[in-house]
Amino acid sequence: MHILVLNGPNLNMLGIREPEHYGTQTLADLIAMIEAEAQRLGVTVECYQSNHEGDLVDKIQAAYGKADGILINPAAYTHTSVALLDAVKAVQIPTVEVHISDPDTRDEFRKISYIRQACIATVKGKGFPGYLEGLQILVQHIKNA
Ligand code: DQA
Repeated sequence: MHILVLNGPNLNMLGIREPEHYGTQTLADLIAMIEAEAQRLGVTVECYQSNHEGDLVDKIQAAYGKADGILINPAAYTHTSVALLDAVKAVQIPTVEVHISDPDTRDEFRKISYIRQACIATVKGKGFPGYLEGLQILVQHIKNA
């Protein structure tokens, strides 16, 4: 089983960026945690981060026929991107949305998630461990399919 893990804009700044929301650990720390969990679950992962919406769309399209699941933190594109929603709908790969913070309890404009309607689950407000929970949900879903 192969899972694509996508991180959107500014998540390369983890560790520096707004630690009150995102903590002090880095993207490299996050990827190490995800890779360890993937190994424990017996699946392979590719982790990719981009600050560019079109790059993320390209990556989702390229996963067609290759990845069994997608774990995505679209970051700010959560709240703006119909293109990411459409990409996930197009490839029909089971997808889980994850957020480090809980956007629903923050600014009003963060309460909208376009991608959510195409996702089998959302994990939010649980910090980095939320990615591990998202991975577990995805793997279980694919195994049950
Ligand atoms: C985020 C929440 C978003 O609102 C924000 O734009 C991010 C990160 C999170 O992981 O909590 O960049 O997706």
